[in-house]
Amino acid sequence: MITTTLLHDSQSGGVKSILTASGLSHSFDYTLFENVDINIHQKESIAVLGVSGSGKSTLLHILATLLKPQYGEVIYGDGYMYEQGDKKLLEIRRDDIGIIFQSHYLFKGFSVKENLEISSMISGNSIDMDLIKKLKIDDTMHQNVSELSGGQQQRVSIARVLLKKPKLIFADEPTGNLDRQTANEVMDVMLEYIEKNNAGLFIVTHDEKVASRCNSAYRLQDKRLFPVTI
Ligand SMILES: Nc1ncnc2c1ncn2[C@@H]1O[C@H](COP(=O)(O)OP(=O)(O)OP(=O)(O)O)[C@@H](O)[C@H]1O
Ligand SMILES: [Mg+2]
Repeated sequence: MITTTLLHDSQSGGVKSILTASGLSHSFDYTLFENVDINIHQKESIAVLGVSGSGKSTLLHILATLLKPQYGEVIYGDGYMYEQGDKKLLEIRRDDIGIIFQSHYLFKGFSVKENLEISSMISGNSIDMDLIKKLKIDDTMHQNVSELSGGQQQRVSIARVLLKKPKLIFADEPTGNLDRQTANEVMDVMLEYIEKNNAGLFIVTHDEKVASRCNSAYRLQDKRLFPVTI
């Protein structure tokens, strides 16, 4: 069960809810989790920790329009996410949701700039060079993404997601390939983004230091989501 002190009633004119999920259960070969509730509000960051195989990425995919849960509901805006038609679901994914995947899917064979232009086209904005500098990828713009290190590719995929101006960011191990200082800087960029854009952040991580920077942290364990204090 998720509640945080930050949350206010969405009707009260306070912090607005962006996504509410309740009673989520999902199994593949075994039951990953049961009866998980999540609420993501504007300007809120939520971290989920848990051992490998506990179902963190699966939970993230369910919240991010990619996987219909076997049980439970995901409410996005004023509708049930998985009861929308495919077209509407695609629109939500394209316009409102930014997903930083555990394995980043950049367009190999294209330059960093070309990879970023796709997102800025979707949002109708030009590439925000301040953001690119903060992520320290300004020197890589004309390089082919396959020439970049893992950490650089990860930062390009984060830039690509933020340039789309999503209302919700789902980040699956976004700092996995980064040293401590760069991980902190990437967290600065994402937290600043949600603050400025009234967006929400749901992040899966193995790194307790990264989780401790979020408003709330949970551990997926024994098929449940437990609040943790870090
Ligand atoms: N599409 C799928 N079909 C079948 N099994 C799946 C599928 N996706 C995930 N699983 C299984 O569900 C379990 C949880 O996977 P998941 O990727 O959600 O774990 P995770 O907590 O993100 O792990 P990690 O920390 O290693 O990324 C794993 O045993 C995985 O093999
Ligand atoms: Mg995972």
